[in-house]
Amino acid sequence: MSEIIQVDGVDTHPDWSHVPEHARHVFICTGPRCTQRGAQQLWKTLRRHLLAHDRIETPDGVLLTRTHCQFPCNLGPVLTVYPERCWYGVHSHDDVQRLVEKHLLGGEVVADLLIKVRP
Ligand code: FES
Repeated sequence: MSEIIQVDGVDTHPDWSHVPEHARHVFICTGPRCTQRGAQQLWKTLRRHLLAHDRIETPDGVLLTRTHCQFPCNLGPVLTVYPERCWYGVHSHDDVQRLVEKHLLGGEVVADLLIKVRP
């Protein structure tokens, strides 16, 4: 049974008082245009692959955050990876699987999925 506490008058859980463990922080856009392009389904695929490899909120894993618009909407669904500062356009479940296996597990940037960021 979960333990509910109050912080500043708000019902909350003790686990929500620390930064989750992670090696990379991944932000997937679920803003309106990326959502129209399938971002919600791609987020589920991403989460499922990471869970299968036990890489969600682990020391060598990923902190996965859904965001609102990250702005290059026309190139989305947009997914960014830190600390590498990689901006990706992921358009299919295969793209997500490759991104997980190559970058998030293997540490190798997936060059053909990168969005060309203007200097
Ligand atoms: S809605 Fe995703 S980048 Fe704008």
